[in-house]
Amino acid sequence: MALLDHYQQQLEQLKQTGNLRQFTANQQQGAYIEIAGRKMLNLSSNDYLGLAANAQLREEFFDQQPMQRRYFSSSSSRLLTGNFAEYEQFEASLSQAFLGRAALLFNSGYHMNIGILPALTDSQTLILADKLIHASMIDGVRLSTAKYVRYRHNDLQHLAQLLEKYHDDVNIERIIVVTESIFSMDGDETDLTALVQIKHRFDKVMLYVDEAHAIGVRGEQGLGCAEQYNVIADIDLLVGTFGKACASVGGYLICDPIIRNYLINTMRPLIFSTALPPINMAWSDFIFKKVMAAKAERLHLHKLSQDLQTAIVAKGYHSPSTSQIVPIIIGASQDAVEKSKSVQQHGFYAMPVRPPTVPQHSARLRISLTSLIQPDDLQRLVACL
Ligand SMILES: Cc1ncc(COP(=O)(O)O)c(C=O)c1O
Repeated sequence: MALLDHYQQQLEQLKQTGNLRQFTANQQQGAYIEIAGRKMLNLSSNDYLGLAANAQLREEFFDQQPMQRRYFSSSSSRLLTGNFAEYEQFEASLSQAFLGRAALLFNSGYHMNIGILPALTDSQTLILADKLIHASMIDGVRLSTAKYVRYRHNDLQHLAQLLEKYHDDVNIERIIVVTESIFSMDGDETDLTALVQIKHRFDKVMLYVDEAHAIGVRGEQGLGCAEQYNVIADIDLLVGTFGKACASVGGYLICDPIIRNYLINTMRPLIFSTALPPINMAWSDFIFKKVMAAKAERLHLHKLSQDLQTAIVAKGYHSPSTSQIVPIIIGASQDAVEKSKSVQQHGFYAMPVRPPTVPQHSARLRISLTSLIQPDDLQRLVACL
């Protein structure tokens, strides 16, 4: 019992500071979520294009998927017997969309980010990362033996200074610059055009850009900010997840075929984990084509995002957002929790995000918009903020 006391005390402490996390049972239908009998507009979903909520699409998929191909387990890693045709087909679709570059799939964005960096780096590698990269990339850095330096959030001048400082160090053979395109907690974005320009000034540099929150949402065909800014070919390691706008599960890397082959031989989460069920890969392939065609949804989401960003600033809140992720920075965790409760009472489900997910004293209400939301929903939301 004494052993458990330690953990119980830590939990009490989290509770007292408003930082205790708990699972919440919920039921979802379209744009709405029901919790403890209360139906609310879901403002915490990453289903940015509303595709995961679309039952018709699921029906269409199952209608065209023969029963004998509906495997719900791959039963092994892809390097053993798990490499079903669905994997290769989906990688071929991705490769075709991303200008013929190689594509490699992973079980999740988390697997991808904890696996690629340790595999591609060694003690002669320097990782230069934005201060606010997602926990999965930080864990990837921690599992690597690389040297690690962070640059100030979105401060590309600072990045350039660090590159000048380290580039000619004889102990450094390569430098990997790691960032997100749209940041998961601030909803702001990296200037990819400027980032690529900086990269081209230094020959030891490779870029690693996580498009988890941009895939499906940005670019004519929804291929992310890399498509929007026409830099797909310039980003050495272009990664993302299917768990958000793409209404599925899994991570992807777009890269040179040499990198793909190297990772198949060295990346531990890829080698030592059962591959995702083939049915998921078939669904990802099916839904990816819908994502590419979802121009109207992208446009609608973009307009909603701009309207909410403007309204929040007009109300006197600070929000760094330029995307569909619109945080309202509040400060103390307890205040963010109270704000979340208050908007829930008005029928809106927006969750508080607290340290350690975000820096101390920057707890926030994180609103993430989907194309299922209508302009009058936003007006009612803004009125109660
Ligand atoms: C920037 C970023 N990268 C990676 C991930 C992890 O992706 P997945 O949910 O597919 O594991 C997330 C998810 O929250 C994320 O926000």
